[in-house]
Amino acid sequence: MVAQHIMGLSGLAAAVLFIFGLKRMSSPTTALSGIVVAGVGMLLAIAASFLTVAELLQSGNARLETNIALAIAALALGSGWAWWRGSKVGMTEMPQMVALYNGMGGGAAAAIAAVSIFGAQADTSLIRAVTAIGALIGSVSLTGSIIAWAKLDGKIDKPWRFAGQRVVNGLVFLTALLLGLGLIVTPGTAAGLPLAILFFAAALGFGVMMTLPIGGADMPVVISLYNAFTGLAVGLEGYALQNPALMIAGMVVGSAGTSLTVLMAKAMNRSLANVLFSNFGDAAVQGGAGPQGEMKSSSAGDAAIAMRYASSVIIIPGYGLAVAQAQQKLYEFVKLLQAAGVDVKFAIHPVAGRMPGHMNVLLAEAGVPYDVIYDMDDINSDFANTDVALVIGANDVVNPAARTDKSSPIYGMPILNADQARQVYVVKRGQGKGYSGVENLLFFGDNCAMVYGDAQAVLTQMVQSVKDLGA
Ligand code: TAP
Repeated sequence: MVAQHIMGLSGLAAAVLFIFGLKRMSSPTTALSGIVVAGVGMLLAIAASFLTVAELLQSGNARLETNIALAIAALALGSGWAWWRGSKVGMTEMPQMVALYNGMGGGAAAAIAAVSIFGAQADTSLIRAVTAIGALIGSVSLTGSIIAWAKLDGKIDKPWRFAGQRVVNGLVFLTALLLGLGLIVTPGTAAGLPLAILFFAAALGFGVMMTLPIGGADMPVVISLYNAFTGLAVGLEGYALQNPALMIAGMVVGSAGTSLTVLMAKAMNRSLANVLFSNFGDAAVQGGAGPQGEMKSSSAGDAAIAMRYASSVIIIPGYGLAVAQAQQKLYEFVKLLQAAGVDVKFAIHPVAGRMPGHMNVLLAEAGVPYDVIYDMDDINSDFANTDVALVIGANDVVNPAARTDKSSPIYGMPILNADQARQVYVVKRGQGKGYSGVENLLFFGDNCAMVYGDAQAVLTQMVQSVKDLGA
């Protein structure tokens, strides 16, 4: 009884800590402490669960003893593995890792539901319905996230499509729904076990089938959507178990995931339906007449000297900067320009890189001060009065086709107005296209020169060229 009160109170405290932590995560200066605060909330919720079990143990239930030992073993294994992987993972592999962890959250919610479905523990039809819905959503999130991970990690490199796929997927979903309904209305009957097995098979299968046709280019949005699913599933299972911390944590994750999905889709000017069903990023669906003219190239040294003698430079980082891990070199170059009196700013597109905030994290890692980093809407009007726009490993986010080419798959996506600067330098390894697979009109502009090479190598040369000029 005492434990139940403590559980309720700690659930409330954990919820406050989650929300406060989330609030702090909205600014780069307070984000780290926000993560710590939310982590403390999670620790509190876990400790309170153990307290409840400890009180139940006093009733002398031998099965509980085994369960608590299993839970401790699972905690030790999970924390150890997450700590090891988390400290090793590279920034460019972060979306894959998020996909996997998110899938595990969905799987955990489905597993909680499975315990109550297979054990026929859910006694009212409302609780059975909530449990079954949570099981369905959690299962879809588990297998869908695994496929998303495999696609981002290059383990699956082609979308899997066939004629009538949407109808087949719809039928699998409908089957899962009907089986779930069967579980709700026929509790404790002989049909329960086979029904439950078929239900989970259909739900898990639907997650795979729903994700396989979606192109790799859209995986970050899909992961965010599954993140919202996981939150919802956890919240529903929290309700079924009458566990407030689980309910609130689930709701926080569910709403944060939903907001993020909407924001990402908005930043690409695409609807969620378009993300899920449009085959974006396929060579076959590319439109447009193609760019006119030729790409010109420049040496790293010439570009660096032009920037050294410019009065204003705006730098646009993209995914390639993260691949090259050249953020430190970039900042070294920026400091040299600043020392020479050049006004240097960074322009961040909301979907530059492969996850929200990717570029902010990268620049923060190199120690770039926040006051020279600008969001797209705050800096876009400055390009027209800027001497040089330096694009490093970015592509789609500066493609003017998004403004002008109605047949382009990225038409309507807000972009950084790099093309309006007096001179543009683009650092990339070759003529590879961006994430969307679309040719970039900027590269063919009269005011644009390509500086070919890995960003790390090019920036090393740029730094050297400015240093060679002397004070
Ligand atoms: P991308 O369009 O993917 O372009 C990155 C460029 O970097 C490539 O063209 C590549 O050209 C170059 N590159 C790769 N490795 C490099 C290296 N080592 N050194 C120098 N350059 C290198 O990136 P972006 O402009 O950041 O745009 C992001 C894309 O991801 C958008 O299409 C966006 O819609 C999509 N997306 C992002 C998110 C989030 S939340 N960030 C979510 C969903 C989708 P080379 O191969 O020629 O070097």
